[in-house]
Formats: sequence, C-alpha cells, structure tokens
Amino acid sequence: MPGEAITERMLLRPFTKADLGWLTALHGDPAVMRFIDSPVPAEVVAAVTLPAFLRERGELPAGVGHFAALREPGGEALGWFGLAPPSSVALQRAGTIGLDHVVSRALEVGYRLFPGAWGQGYATEGTRTLVRRAFTDAGAGNVVATTMSVNVASRRVLEKAGLTLAGTLLIDWPDPLDGAEHGEVIYTANRQDWLRAS
Ligand SMILES: CC(C)(COP(=O)(O)OP(=O)(O)OC[C@H]1O[C@@H](n2cnc3c(N)ncnc32)[C@H](O)[C@@H]1OP(=O)(O)O)[C@@H](O)C(=O)NCCC(=O)NCCS
Repeated sequence: MPGEAITERMLLRPFTKADLGWLTALHGDPAVMRFIDSPVPAEVVAAVTLPAFLRERGELPAGVGHFAALREPGGEALGWFGLAPPSSVALQRAGTIGLDHVVSRALEVGYRLFPGAWGQGYATEGTRTLVRRAFTDAGAGNVVATTMSVNVASRRVLEKAGLTLAGTLLIDWPDPLDGAEHGEVIYTANRQDWLRAS
C-alpha cells in the first residue's frame, strides 16, 4: 500500500474503515488521553476522527498523514503515528513566542499507543522512522511536535528521535487538563542538523 513503512517491529500503514473498532477504544481510553483531551466519544471517532484520517489519503502526498501501527508479526493494533502538516493549537500559535520560522515548511509528528504497548520503545521506533521519512522523502525543512510540558514520556520520545526543545507556550484553555499551567512545549529538528547527525 502506498505510504506503508516497515520498522524493526511494526508495520505502519494508512488507515482503513476496518480500523474503527480499535481506534474507538484508543481514543476513548482516559489513560491514553490523559495529556491530550477528554476521552473521545465513539460517535465522534466514527464521524470525525477516522473519516479525517481516511481523507488524508486523497489530500496529502503518500507517506504523509496518520498511520495505523501494527505489531509485526501478528498484526495486533498498537496505536498510530502521524506525520502531517502542523495543526496542533500550540503550533498554530508558535508565532507568539517567535517560533513561526520552525513551522514553515514543517511536518508535525505525533503518536498515540495503547497502554499495553508503552515502555517497549515502540514510540521511539515509529517516530524515528517518520522523522527520517520527513527529511528524506517528504522534503520537509523542519519536523515539529508539541506536547504538554508535564508529558515526560512524550518529551523523551521526541528527544530520542532527534528533536530538541525550542520553546514553551502558555495557552489559556477553556477547560484545562491537570498540569496545563506548566504550558505546552514545542520541539523541532531541522533538515540540515538531522542530515549532519545521521
Ligand atoms: C507517549 C507515548 C507515545 C510513549 O510511548 P512508548 O512506546 O512508551 O515510548 P518509548 O518506549 O519509546 O519510550 C521513550 C522514552 O520515554 C521513557 N518513558 C516512557 N514512558 C515514560 C513515563 N511514563 N515516564 C517517564 N519516562 C517514560 C522511556 O523510558 C524512554 O526513555 P529511555 O529510553 O531514556 O528510558 C505513550 O505513552 C502514549 O501513547 N501515551 C498516550 C498518548 C500521548 O500522550 N501521546 C503524546 C501526546 S503529545
């Protein structure tokens, strides 16, 4: 399938309609959503989230978008990885802390895995693969990511994938998650530095 990637232990492939069941479970899990948002109701995943992932296949170049992560061998769904035009709120507001340059010609990486898959290096493995794809195949000038400052696991994944902290942004959320007062961190890698280091 165009856009597929095989990592050491996973197949990353574009979403299909058949992924609805596990995607609903993933986005409905309060532990998974702890640093992201309230758990997402099943009807929203079916009407909004999955259709948006499916539409990307027609709208974005192959290799860019959100990708189901399946354990290899076996095919068990572990979660997803994203490599997509920047869309997170913190990245949309990066200009307010002088970071508009990092979001230009950039792709945003992201990930969401089931708790049973945590702590085994999967997020690092998938993110490294998509960072490489961003700079080698997708022509990105920068890779960017954002997470809550208190999401230590996510920050560590980004650091291990070669991104560095560019800044911290305080956002006045209408219904803030615990820890939001510490802000959102923005991480970046640029093409020249990445090529030099790899
Ligand atoms: C964030 C997440 C993707 C990390 O996935 P993972 O596969 O467990 O990450 P890895 O195994 O690749 O670990 C990467 C590093 O983070 C560390 N780490 C993982 N979980 C951690 C935790 N809860 N606290 C502190 N460090 C943690 C690991 O020890 C490792 O660092 P090390 O090699 O220096 O020891 C996973 O916890 C997740 O899906 N969380 C819910 C969704 C989410 O928060 N997504 C990010 C939103 S921005």
